[in-house]
Amino acid sequence: MCGIVGYLGQKEAYPILIKGLHRLEYRGYDSAGIALINGGLNVYKRKGKVAELEAFVKGKDISGPIGIAHTRWATHGEPTDENAHPHMSQSKELSLIHNGIIENYDVLRNELINRGYTFNSHTDTEVLVYLIEDIQKNEGVELSEAVRIALNQVIGAYAIVILSKNDPDTLIAAKKGSPLVIGIGEDEFFIASDATPIVEYTKEVVYLNDEEMAVIRRNNDLRIKTIKNQDKTPYIQTLEMNLSQLEKGGFEHFMLKEIYEQPRSIMDSMRGRLNAKKGIVSLGGIIDYEQKMVAANRIIIIACGTSWHAGLVGEYLFEDLARTPVEVEYASEFRYRNPVIYENDVVIAISQSGETADTLAAIELARSKGATILGICNVVGSSIARATDAGSYTHAGPEIGVASTKAFTAQVTVLTLMALRIAQLKGTLSKSRFQQILFELESIPEKVEKTLKVSKRVITIAEEFCQVRNFLYLGRGYNFPVALEGALKLKEISYIHAEGYPAAEMKHGPIALIDEEMPVVFIAPLKGVYEKVISNIQEVKARRGKVIAIVTEGDHAVSEMADYTIEIPETEEMLVPLLATIPLQKLSYHIALMRGCNVDQPRNLAKSVTVE
Ligand code: G6P
Repeated sequence: MCGIVGYLGQKEAYPILIKGLHRLEYRGYDSAGIALINGGLNVYKRKGKVAELEAFVKGKDISGPIGIAHTRWATHGEPTDENAHPHMSQSKELSLIHNGIIENYDVLRNELINRGYTFNSHTDTEVLVYLIEDIQKNEGVELSEAVRIALNQVIGAYAIVILSKNDPDTLIAAKKGSPLVIGIGEDEFFIASDATPIVEYTKEVVYLNDEEMAVIRRNNDLRIKTIKNQDKTPYIQTLEMNLSQLEKGGFEHFMLKEIYEQPRSIMDSMRGRLNAKKGIVSLGGIIDYEQKMVAANRIIIIACGTSWHAGLVGEYLFEDLARTPVEVEYASEFRYRNPVIYENDVVIAISQSGETADTLAAIELARSKGATILGICNVVGSSIARATDAGSYTHAGPEIGVASTKAFTAQVTVLTLMALRIAQLKGTLSKSRFQQILFELESIPEKVEKTLKVSKRVITIAEEFCQVRNFLYLGRGYNFPVALEGALKLKEISYIHAEGYPAAEMKHGPIALIDEEMPVVFIAPLKGVYEKVISNIQEVKARRGKVIAIVTEGDHAVSEMADYTIEIPETEEMLVPLLATIPLQKLSYHIALMRGCNVDQPRNLAKSVTVE
């Protein structure tokens, strides 16, 4: 949610900053802007994507070895040229970029208006840069001190970088709630919302903690202190990410590349954790907490969006395999509804980005009640990974497409491993059954590979239905969350209204929508409540709805009734979500493409939601 990049060094800043913005564009793409110092301070900003900013600056002065840049996901104020970042102080000496929300901006703004300031935008960010300048002038302090004092007055979340025309050798950055990472090169520094713009220049990074600020000067001078003025020693970490993971690798879109990466990402999420032959499941990150999980009366899973759907699969897994009761909560609801949490509850927070504001706040709440908190995150070193007691990374690799694909299957894989491990410790599965499931899990990457070959079939279905206005997705048991995820994928990237339901619930409402125009996607593998799903399909056919069914290879009964079928390989019931999700991702992708939508950057969405 908003991407931030900064550079200070010997090279020209512009190409580095623009490339960085492209890498961060998945975070927001309403408008983009850049500020560079070369003698004077040049600020250029434009509504629209980074490409529009690039076209706008053609022929203008974009030189200078220091600069900041921003790609925005609008919160306060519409996406316009004026509301785009960077924002300048009243005197035009300071320039600031910001990710987050200043909650008390209205009070601060009114105070500044009373003191004679006039604003050019509707953003909370402009209020912050005015406030900093006001403090600097009135209290006669240097810029870093003015930033520090100002940050003690703001309520809310921020990651900021500030540049002063009068000091072309310094960048000041700070964060609370929104992420910020500093890359340390040779005689140069990089700042960014995440490591993706930095990795091609250096692997040495420092992640800022909440309420920390960095004062970065030429000649390798990096100082970190808290906003309460305590000095901190920079903790330098080495990035594991590599550049090829951030490129499209011959695919037309990141989303398609990420869909096709799933055999590998699922394998990577199991690597070193599963040995079916020896009957071993081991998750090193949570080893010290296994007994807490075994003893837990209840597991509470908190997450948002697609991660919440993975959590729902987790509910079926933990209850079915380990016999532990599970509640799955939207983090945004959990945090505000005074939930009952006991000390022997284990909370599992699931997040691809590890930065989702609601999930972070829910973790804090659970912590204050004494619960044990584990994380399942994809981004190493992210805020949620650091805020939890322990956890397991998903190892799916960077996910750039805004609509989540490989992160979902990786989350489900890790949840499966966790549930199996707890089942083993609790003795809720026989040894032979346990091992049978492990063998099947080991074969899943290969089966995903096979499932990916359904393109022709999916394209035919996409052609038939790409112009409809509504879609219904139905599944039962383990496949109810798959139905929800299928529907979410379609609405996110194609803007077709789609709803997911437990198949049997259809008769309590959605059945009223069914007519010959309505495509209904059934996830109907030859497992679990197959017979019951057949009855649900008949109910749809009786009302002339169009049935698209995801079925097990060799299926007859459903295939005879359905208008279209897509086959997936046979597997254990609890592993079907890992296969059934794949054709649904591809269906959304092809429908969105046929409708001319921007698959990787769907309108209004952002990948990493760092505001509540
Ligand atoms: C945003 C993204 C979704 C994602 C959700 C939760 O809404 O667009 O794809 O599922 O946030 O994100 P997280 O990073 O916590 O999994």
